[in-house]
Amino acid sequence: MMRNLRDTYADLPIVEDADDRPANPTDNTVFGEILERRLSRRQALRGLGTAAVTAGLAGSMVSTLAMRAAAAATGPALTFTELAHGVDENMHVAQGYRADVVIRWGDKVLGDAPAFQAGAQDAGGQSRQFGYNNDYIGYFPLPTGSNNSEHGLLVVNHEYTNAELMFPGVLKKTKNDQVTAEQAAIEIEAHGCSVIEVKKQDGRWQVVENSPYARRITGTTPIKVVGPAAGHEWMKTSGDATGRLVLGTLNNCAGGKTPWGTVMIGEENFNGYFGGPAETLPDAAQYKRYGISSKSWYAWWKYVDRFDVSKEPNEPNRFGWMVEFDPYDPTSLPVKRTALGRFKHEGATAAVNGDGRLVVYSGDDQRFDYLYRFVSDGRFNSHQRAANAALLDAGTLFVAKFSEDGTLRWLPLVFGTGPLTPENGFTSQADVLIETRRAADLLGATPLDRPEDVEPNPATGRVYVALTNNSKRKPDDTNAVNPRGPNPFGHIIELLPPGDDGARDHAALEFEWDIFILAGNPGDASHEALYNSKVSENGWFAAPDNVAFDPHGRLWVATDQGKHWKKTGFADGVYACQTTGPDRALTQQIFRVPIGAEMCGPEFTPDGKTLFVAVQHPAADGVAPEQNFDNPATRWPDFQAGVPPRPSLVAITKEDGGDIGS
Ligand code: FEO
Ligand code: CA
Ligand code: CA
Repeated sequence: MMRNLRDTYADLPIVEDADDRPANPTDNTVFGEILERRLSRRQALRGLGTAAVTAGLAGSMVSTLAMRAAAAATGPALTFTELAHGVDENMHVAQGYRADVVIRWGDKVLGDAPAFQAGAQDAGGQSRQFGYNNDYIGYFPLPTGSNNSEHGLLVVNHEYTNAELMFPGVLKKTKNDQVTAEQAAIEIEAHGCSVIEVKKQDGRWQVVENSPYARRITGTTPIKVVGPAAGHEWMKTSGDATGRLVLGTLNNCAGGKTPWGTVMIGEENFNGYFGGPAETLPDAAQYKRYGISSKSWYAWWKYVDRFDVSKEPNEPNRFGWMVEFDPYDPTSLPVKRTALGRFKHEGATAAVNGDGRLVVYSGDDQRFDYLYRFVSDGRFNSHQRAANAALLDAGTLFVAKFSEDGTLRWLPLVFGTGPLTPENGFTSQADVLIETRRAADLLGATPLDRPEDVEPNPATGRVYVALTNNSKRKPDDTNAVNPRGPNPFGHIIELLPPGDDGARDHAALEFEWDIFILAGNPGDASHEALYNSKVSENGWFAAPDNVAFDPHGRLWVATDQGKHWKKTGFADGVYACQTTGPDRALTQQIFRVPIGAEMCGPEFTPDGKTLFVAVQHPAADGVAPEQNFDNPATRWPDFQAGVPPRPSLVAITKEDGGDIGS
């Protein structure tokens, strides 16, 4: 018999304020008896903020882990002249580098796509044109399996849409009342993902027209559901009695690559697309834990029944998954891999463990939500690509519990173990996966300050977790891994799987961890910031979000301050640093976005000579509310009257053709 999801929430205190985030109602933040230690750790960090600036990170008493890192080998020095902080209508790149727009929202992806016409798009055209708000970028060399750094495919996510900047006459404040059925259809087709073929010719990247690889995946593309939750009762709708075929993927934020050359794209803020009386339906509590409410972020639910939870109460259960597809095969059906759990997947980054098992790290980007890791049962087969097709369907999903002593334990989300039993409403592994967040709550996972990108350094095996910020963390609710409350600037933590650099066990149950960077201004003691002491006044940042490693193992951090860029006074950008050696955590900026934009998707070619970045939502954040399509804060990159700003993918190269960064 079908269980009512409402029953399983009967004992959980549900937060009253639904306003999108935070959505975690548990008190997992309270560590009880370790409060004392937490406070002393915090005091140590307070001291550290200034000590690190004056005495240097390596010389301070930051921790034995940092000391070890400081002594370890390092990549070549970062020698570029750092870019000054600032904000204006244009993008900027460090001296000696060039930044070229490769493709913009509305440009042709498929050969038969119409040319972009500002304010006069239609849904059919948009389904073949480059989507809105480019986010994750994955570079896949051609031919398959090669390291070609001058010819390849780019997989680019289109996270969301800004109707007020896409359509004439629409205002941000009233857009949900203004957007028409046709405009909603354009928005749905502007979501998902693009695959384009690109070539570097005479030092400039060009899109290959009429490429046989070109592909659009949108909010209406058929996508197969596989893994333990496929076919579950809660996955069935009136349009899909099998519970195994979903239309579309939404809010694809970051992503990652598998070692066999497929791509994983996360479904992040899927909750915002649904409308209808979510608060009064039987699944109200489950909806609330995922932030689904009657306050939809879009007008879609008025026109498309499946986005109205009163008409299709199970449709939201079909989103919040990790989607995998083969960019080299434009006819392949994308799949939602339910074994990796259902939450607001920021991205997914894979590491092949020493024993051949695949480990995939993923953050659940919400204030006070968790960090996850999937470990496959099977082993990666490097000889036979097709042999890995089901590797992501069988394995164990874990959630992280951090301790004050610098260790972290990975807690398995396995039906029948611990509290994940029928007494708590779980009757199968599928139940656990569909309600991943509640399962993790019950296990006592550690709520974090918005876990975004998680990325292992391929050179060392140390793992870096960007925690963007958390303005809602209270001063008395801090702990060692979330040491500041509130945390307006965010931080980056470093995980150390057991073993030595280059041979770490990503599948181990226990890791060590440390704070890598506490963002904010190191020149302002009240920020309690932590960087290498040599960081310049232009090298600090706020709101770390997407991260990438170059071929030398140096870390590149993209920032997402949202409307809060006004607090720092400068636009989002990309910052680079070493993770080991005397220059560990010495960040410097190479690129910054135009006003109101966010920096996404840093991705290197294998030779390290191109850095692709995604400029998302120019003119959208922190600008006056009346600024829209008709009157935007910038018309980047076209700067033509009547043409609105266009989210675009940018290639950064060095003028002398050398390595990015050195
Ligand atoms: Fe889509 Fe968490 O950024
Ligand atoms: Ca992000
Ligand atoms: Ca990344």
